[in-house]
Amino acid sequence: MKMKGIAAVYFSPTGSTKRAVMEIADGIARKAGLPVREVDFTLPGAREEVRKFEAGQLVIFGTPVYAGRIPNKILPAVQTLFEGNGALAVPVVTFGNRSFDNALIELRIELEQHGFHTIAGAAFVAEHVFSKKLAAGRPDENDLQVIRRFAEDIAVKIEGIKEGDQDGMAEIPAPVAVKGIEPVPSYYRPLQEDGTPANFLKAKPKTADSCNDCGICARVCPMGSISPEDCRTVTGICIKCQACVKACPEGAKYFDDPIMLSHTRMLEQNYARRAENEVFL
Ligand SMILES: Cc1cc2nc3c(=O)[nH]c(=O)nc-3n(C[C@H](O)[C@H](O)[C@H](O)COP(=O)(O)O)c2cc1C
Repeated sequence: MKMKGIAAVYFSPTGSTKRAVMEIADGIARKAGLPVREVDFTLPGAREEVRKFEAGQLVIFGTPVYAGRIPNKILPAVQTLFEGNGALAVPVVTFGNRSFDNALIELRIELEQHGFHTIAGAAFVAEHVFSKKLAAGRPDENDLQVIRRFAEDIAVKIEGIKEGDQDGMAEIPAPVAVKGIEPVPSYYRPLQEDGTPANFLKAKPKTADSCNDCGICARVCPMGSISPEDCRTVTGICIKCQACVKACPEGAKYFDDPIMLSHTRMLEQNYARRAENEVFL
């Protein structure tokens, strides 16, 4: 089958998911001689309009893994803002060395429910935003090779899909089989170092004196929860994505919630091994 267009769609507060999705989309687009339509729905302003796709298009669709699933505050956007109308799709998740649990299957289910035909899927390892010790420096050269190979395999798979009489496919491909439990179970429950549950839902970023009110943190917050007038004030929900922490040029944003820090240490102690990327075609 000949593709009509390629789109890269992602939610990516700190850039790892964007990187994986763009690497795949660019790889396929180069081969097919097509441009990439980029749809970044990380910021609140980008979650106001419905994006429509159509048969013959390929959509690489990525989110990070939060608590083993699609980030819960972003799930409604995934469910309401994208209409596949018969487009092909590739669900992609990135995860920080613990596990992607049921995030990939959840994304596949959502895409199938909203008019996409999923033909491949993948979970890629990326540095955990809570700790530079978890999947440090990943994606590395080996990971990039896996991602590029995945892009090539998708292109070959699409070439092998038979064209139909009118502008579509002769047969609708079966949803890609990916790892995960269906129906999707509840979220992963974080633990503290001592094995007790870690509830840090109320944790918010704090601001050191080095803050010079440049406003970058307010502009990068995916929830629009940092006041542009006073960067020290968190006005709404915090999803702990670390966008503000990573973007602050002064290094002034930080979390000091003891339960959240205990959870991070638990992860560092128990998930130090090299987690593997997983691709499904
Ligand atoms: C709130 C939260 C929950 C997370 N939960 C998981 C998880 O369950 N398993 C895992 O391996 N990584 C987890 N991570 C790490 C992210 O999936 C990982 O760092 C991801 O690559 C970040 O993507 P981004 O750079 O596109 O924002 C979590 C991160 C956050 C902020």
